[in-house]
Amino acid sequence: MALDRLKKEETLAMRMRLIGQSCKLFYSDDPVKILRARGQYLFDENGERYLDCISNVHHVGHCHPSITKAAAAQMDLLNTNTRFLHDNIVLYADRLAATLPEKLCVFYFVNSGSEANDLALRLAQQYTQQEDVIVLDHAYHGHLMSLIDISPYKFRKLAGQKEWVHVAPLPDTYRGIYRENHPNPGQAYADTVKDLIEEVHRKGRKISAFFAESLPSVGGQIILPRGYSAKVAEYVRSAGGVFVADEVQTGFGRLGSHFWGFQQQGENFCPDIVTMGKPMGNGHPLACVATTVEIAEAFTANRVEYFNTFGGNPVSCAIGLAVLDVIETEDLRGNATRVGAHLKDLLTKLQTQHQIIGEVRGAGLFLGIELVTDREKRTPATKTAALLVKRLKEEDRICVSTDGPWESVLKFKPPMCFSMEDAELVVQCIDRILTDIEANDLKLEKEDI
Ligand SMILES: Cc1ncc(COP(=O)(O)O)c(C=O)c1O
Repeated sequence: MALDRLKKEETLAMRMRLIGQSCKLFYSDDPVKILRARGQYLFDENGERYLDCISNVHHVGHCHPSITKAAAAQMDLLNTNTRFLHDNIVLYADRLAATLPEKLCVFYFVNSGSEANDLALRLAQQYTQQEDVIVLDHAYHGHLMSLIDISPYKFRKLAGQKEWVHVAPLPDTYRGIYRENHPNPGQAYADTVKDLIEEVHRKGRKISAFFAESLPSVGGQIILPRGYSAKVAEYVRSAGGVFVADEVQTGFGRLGSHFWGFQQQGENFCPDIVTMGKPMGNGHPLACVATTVEIAEAFTANRVEYFNTFGGNPVSCAIGLAVLDVIETEDLRGNATRVGAHLKDLLTKLQTQHQIIGEVRGAGLFLGIELVTDREKRTPATKTAALLVKRLKEEDRICVSTDGPWESVLKFKPPMCFSMEDAELVVQCIDRILTDIEANDLKLEKEDI
């Protein structure tokens, strides 16, 4: 039986007519129609296989049989809201608690990363009784209005910056104000937050929260310099605020070495609120906020019930539990460490052959290749990045995406079952295309500059 009910052109025509055009397609010039998926592979209407290097949502692999089985079994039995007692939500919260520092021991389940960050904002504001938020430049924290307000990546293109939002420099040691040759970029960037807090105080305002992704992704797969988060947390807390770590992209072992991205900043650092989403339900809408007893109590003290119709339902929590089981039983963190290191190593070798590769960075299966037209000036090679994405899809059926303020960073965040062979194939294909671009298409880059 055919898996599609419409021809590809019909699907596209209906989509153009019926779906809001601000909902963008990958490869808008020639979109891909995917009908099924398994592991790290996607299959189109002709049965052609694509290697998925984009989806950090399908964390343990597309359509993993254990996840499907857990979902179907629970769906067949019961799916209610959280106003009835049920084992799944408490067992799941308990399993999550075991992955986090002891003080992050109260959980609220929601349906998306945006809902999680919106609730984090409410928790912080209720706890501190203040409104102002510090965010990192180029950050994205979600699509709700409250989050557009704290996402420079979005608000710069829209209504602009609200008076209660303050933007700190992105601690990017490749392009930022303090670079890899600085003796202590962690301290230097943390001091920019301290200066910002002082500026906020001079305006007669007070900080409620500092929001940051543990490894800023939309900002371009940035690794926060060592010591940064602990110092920022110290400054923010002494100003009466709380530290919110957005782990929507980086949680659940993506970095291999650590279950949570913030743990890369050392054992002396613990956020006050952690938000999580994307990989949590392997594609099922499941997200969460973890916080401390004190913050949760302040939220309860306003006597307004927090009710979320779908958040934490038995099916979602059964799926969440199954995802945690698969991460453990298939040693996906170990795989992310090994395959990620191999991929990074191969890409770093490629950097010696291609001037256009300015930097290779990241950890586990969360990597970025920064493309530049000039290594000295670090000029973003935006057009080459776009061409590489297009040719990888057209010539090799490999799906990758770009990010960063200039869309010049090629991102790798594939399902965690990504293999050594996949890594080798990707690097061979990038090598071939870059060699070809360098030989034939350098004009494109001159225009880029
Ligand atoms: C860092 C980060 N936070 C929050 C969100 C919002 O998550 P969602 O799209 O599930 O609402 C995203 C989505 O891309 C994200 O990347």
